[in-house]
Amino acid sequence: MPLLIRNGDIVTADARVRGDIYVESETITAIGSDLVVASGTEVIDASGKLVFPGFIDPHVHIYLPFMATFARDTHETASVAALVGGTTTFIEMCCPSRNDDALEGYRLWKAEAASGSACDYSFHMSVSKFTDVTEAQLREIVADGITSFKVFLAYKGAFGIDDGELYQTLMLARQLGVIVTAHCENAELVSRLQQRLIAEGKTGPEWHEPSRPESVEAEGTHRFTTFLENTGASGYVVHLSSEPALRAALAARARGVRVSIEAVIPHLVLDRTFAERSGIEGMKHVMSPPLRDRRNHAALWAALAEGAIDTVATDHCPFDVSQKRMGERSFVEIPNGIGGIEERVNLLYTHGVSRGRLDLQRFVDAASTRAAKLFGLFPRKGTIAVGSDADIVVYDPTYRGTLSAATQQSRNDYNGFEGMAIEGRPSLVTVRGCVQVRDGQFVGERTRGRFLRRTPNA
Ligand code: URP
Ligand code: ZN
Ligand code: ZN
Repeated sequence: MPLLIRNGDIVTADARVRGDIYVESETITAIGSDLVVASGTEVIDASGKLVFPGFIDPHVHIYLPFMATFARDTHETASVAALVGGTTTFIEMCCPSRNDDALEGYRLWKAEAASGSACDYSFHMSVSKFTDVTEAQLREIVADGITSFKVFLAYKGAFGIDDGELYQTLMLARQLGVIVTAHCENAELVSRLQQRLIAEGKTGPEWHEPSRPESVEAEGTHRFTTFLENTGASGYVVHLSSEPALRAALAARARGVRVSIEAVIPHLVLDRTFAERSGIEGMKHVMSPPLRDRRNHAALWAALAEGAIDTVATDHCPFDVSQKRMGERSFVEIPNGIGGIEERVNLLYTHGVSRGRLDLQRFVDAASTRAAKLFGLFPRKGTIAVGSDADIVVYDPTYRGTLSAATQQSRNDYNGFEGMAIEGRPSLVTVRGCVQVRDGQFVGERTRGRFLRRTPNA
């Protein structure tokens, strides 16, 4: 059924206009006022609301074997959570480990997602080793529409690669026009610091951050960008959490290195004191890079406001209480990760727009448009324009609520942001013209989501 979204404040990364949006068969076909519409069109009154392009989360983990367990969500639960929170497209990290075959891993991740996602999706392909078959396999995966790789400089023995493999990955990426996303922490230092702390009897979750200090992240960021500089590849630092790492990335950019930067919502609104809580409460907030000292917030928010930090993602990676308890003996065994796919947009709006740190254009850019541009989805996704997919979020800035595990869609028994207030939420969300969410409730098609083929643009 065609859709007319009337009289909203349409906000894109570069404009704000009052008007109507007309949607026919999955696509935006007209924007203006007094539009002529077909009979039977559903009319949505967006008076007093903000109308945004569907938000894009460029960093999530859904199917993920990791640290002797699996992340909790299914594609169904994560995509419904995403939509309720206004995210209409996510890019999942496809993460076969060093012991797995990359192509088999890619097929497995794709099959998992195809089993049922309510929103659209793509993948970043992890390169966790570089062998004789890697180049041919990656070429096949790129030909299937994957235009971004992922490397981990951390997680020695699992996903982590060495400098030689990093060099080979970047050289191939440059040839293929593929952007390489990177988790930047020095694996060797993390491992040595972990061993030292454990030997000293420092086993609780509060020691996770000291085992991966800011300097270790800054080194990883500097090394990654130095490799970009010397290969000519384009890169993207994921979940950058600290001011020293930010300085390393910005210094590289000032030298002409093509590097983009992602912040994630936990690092913007939580801090290390959450992981310093005793027992399970601390364990719930263990992720990598760790939650940092609050003094980093000012630098991250300022860089985000001016666009020096490009995107805000989640690194959605939920583990439940029983999984987190696997690390009761030692913080090195706590599965790393916090959910957030449902909370990201509302927290960014609340702590960014409502607090006066971000203007609406930068908010849309950071949470949608910039990711679409960097990862080859623009202008199909990431904007409101004639010809774009009708992924639309009608946002109610007057809504007031509280985040809680009791009301979340994600398949977890706690919420890392429990009790935090939100000022605004999506009142209607569409995926290619189909209404998937009304007033905070999922009302749509659970298998609507499609795999998005992208073309290399780096
Ligand atoms: O703690 C985290 N971030 N877990 C997910 C894996 C990763 O490093 O992105
Ligand atoms: Zn990571
Ligand atoms: Zn991640």
